[in-house]
Amino acid sequence: MQIASLIFLFLASTITVFVASTHTYNDIPQIISNEVRELKVTKKISHNLTRAVNDLVKIKDKKTSNHLFCQTCDLVIRQIIAYRRSGANKESMVAFFRKLCRTFATWGGVACDGYINIEIDTVLYIIDNRKDLTVHRVCAIAFQPKNCTDPNAHKWTVDLPPKRKTVKTHHPSHSEASPLKVLHLTDFHYDPLYEPGSNAACNVPLCCQKSNGPPSKATNAAGYWGDYHVCDTPWHSITELMTHLKDAHKTFDLIYYTGDIVSHRSWATTKDENVKAIKELFQLFNKTFKATPLYPILGNHEPHPTDFYSPGNVTSKVSTQWIFDLMASEWKRWLPDETKATILAGGYYTVLVKPKFRIIALNSNVCFISNLWLLYHDEDPYDQLKWLVDVLTKAEKDGEKVHILSHIPPGEIQCLQRWTSQFRKIVDRFAPIIVAHFNGHTHLDELRLFRDPTNHKKIINVAYNAGSFTTFVGFNPNYRTYDVDANTLEVLDYDHYTYNLTKANQNKDKDPEWYKLYSFKDAYGLKNTTYDSLTDLIGRMSRNRTLMQQYFRYQGRDSDPYTAQGCDDTCLRKLVCGITAVEASESIQCQNIKKRTT
Ligand SMILES: *[C@@H]1O[C@H](CO)[C@@H](O)[C@H](O)[C@H]1NC(C)=O
Ligand SMILES: *[C@@H]1O[C@H](CO)[C@@H](O)[C@H](O)[C@H]1NC(C)=O
Ligand SMILES: *[C@@H]1O[C@H](CO)[C@@H](O)[C@H](O)[C@H]1NC(C)=O
Ligand SMILES: *[C@@H]1O[C@H](CO)[C@@H](O)[C@H](O)[C@H]1NC(C)=O
Ligand SMILES: *[C@@H]1O[C@H](CO)[C@@H](O)[C@H](O)[C@H]1NC(C)=O
Ligand SMILES: *[C@@H]1O[C@H](CO)[C@@H](O)[C@H](O)[C@H]1NC(C)=O
Ligand SMILES: [Zn+2]
Ligand SMILES: [Zn+2]
Repeated sequence: MQIASLIFLFLASTITVFVASTHTYNDIPQIISNEVRELKVTKKISHNLTRAVNDLVKIKDKKTSNHLFCQTCDLVIRQIIAYRRSGANKESMVAFFRKLCRTFATWGGVACDGYINIEIDTVLYIIDNRKDLTVHRVCAIAFQPKNCTDPNAHKWTVDLPPKRKTVKTHHPSHSEASPLKVLHLTDFHYDPLYEPGSNAACNVPLCCQKSNGPPSKATNAAGYWGDYHVCDTPWHSITELMTHLKDAHKTFDLIYYTGDIVSHRSWATTKDENVKAIKELFQLFNKTFKATPLYPILGNHEPHPTDFYSPGNVTSKVSTQWIFDLMASEWKRWLPDETKATILAGGYYTVLVKPKFRIIALNSNVCFISNLWLLYHDEDPYDQLKWLVDVLTKAEKDGEKVHILSHIPPGEIQCLQRWTSQFRKIVDRFAPIIVAHFNGHTHLDELRLFRDPTNHKKIINVAYNAGSFTTFVGFNPNYRTYDVDANTLEVLDYDHYTYNLTKANQNKDKDPEWYKLYSFKDAYGLKNTTYDSLTDLIGRMSRNRTLMQQYFRYQGRDSDPYTAQGCDDTCLRKLVCGITAVEASESIQCQNIKKRTT
């Protein structure tokens, strides 16, 4: 989960407001045009726009079709690009964005100014240097979940080698040896400014910090171990987790960290503070887990500006190359030297853990639609998917099995559709050797199943999303341990651990009471985790409401606020649909599932 870039978020609200009112106000385009014309002439912002919008906000009818939304997006983006191209300098653009943000965004002036300050240079670089940037391109990428389309989008593809004739069985002999213990940690979102007792219900996009002032009432005081409000993780909760892991589990064979270290304070990040938080956490991992092999990947929150991964050939001051440089040096305590070249080139790598066991660690954040650089260049950023095919082709030849680590789960609705379709194609082709995927990012405990493209009833690959340690937003903190067959690398079972945050916060002098929320096989009535059993599971899920209610509850780790939201029949059907949605287009379809009319 993340806070999208300023530009997109406030445009989203802008557009929603405009669209909501188009039935009554036929002169909306005129209002914007006039405003921009006036800006160009006077270089000052008038109050017409504010007044017009304030009127519009009063209109209750918020029902809007995607089509209308996309048309309005085109309109607003056209004005922004035109204003810059007509000669507006940086100061004028900043003024324009400040005006828009203050008018439309709900998070107040401080966050508005912070976001603009951090993102403006990249925004202008892209408008100025991608000369053929069209409004359709911007809206199709930035508002993919609204299904906006770009008729001129280049349908890039990644080439695949032909299928091998002698495909080996999906399930080679199971190991007699005891399973490998794998610890899966994800999405810590460490907030160095977290202050127990501070205001947890504040008016900026992340609370529970000293600067948020005192709480208005006792229930709004930030909890000691964390808070269900819009808050991230205090350091002492992270060190408590480390102590608990050492005490409760003797050893792990492997550890996966699937990204997002930095807090959601995206409007106020600095490179130096991100570097500091990242270094502190890796140092702690090193101290806690000593020589245990650990495989980290990047999240969308590690860079500054948040979400932005610039192409390798952009070398001006807006480049984010520093994040790859940092990881190359931080990760070398766990990774062999051969990984350095690809980490520097794009933040991804591969390691042969032991004979026949390969880990492929991706930087899937490049596909995230809040990565503004997609507007500049979206064709297989860093040639990562091409590299993935090369690595898998060689692994297949060498008879290896593979675990894929990726921050963004397959089919995430905010992952560029083109990227997800190419990734899916790769997984289909190499399904026999890709044994499992491990993900984070959504902060939800989730399962994603790839279906055989020629037989939709059959499951051919599985992705495990471990939830998050951060409570952002409304979750209980969690971690996971997997039993992995030492030969086949299959996940034989997993245990999901959490604590009740309400209970933990009732006594700060006592450590939180960690407990096992559930085991995978047991909770879902599985004899084993073979694809046949998972195929059967998806069938049972679509028929058994109780089973899906449990899936929903576990998504939020049985936290009271998450469970209290409830999940009606339409919601449950969306959840089932989402499990087999491994392309963004499928996730969009799931999202659009309508209430059954009976
Ligand atoms: C990491 O931990 C190992 C083993 O405890 C120690 O020898 C090493 O100095 C540590 N490295 C860093 C960079 O902290
Ligand atoms: C970077 O590469 C892309 C794709 O090849 C190209 O369109 C763009 O102009 C290049 N940018 C720079 C600054 O060289
Ligand atoms: C969590 O703890 C609170 C306080 O003890 C309790 O009221 C609540 O029922 C607990 N929630 C669950 C799901 O056990
Ligand atoms: C997995 O469990 C199913 C029953 O659900 C059984 O039919 C099948 O033989 C089992 N497969 C393996 C490899 O244990
Ligand atoms: C539905 O799932 C629940 C929870 O796992 C289980 O107890 C129950 O037996 C299932 N019902 C049917 C009809 O399979
Ligand atoms: C999204 O747009 C595409 C192309 O216009 C269309 O084929 C598809 O049905 C739409 N999907 C949804 C869920 O609206
Ligand atoms: Zn996250
Ligand atoms: Zn994330």
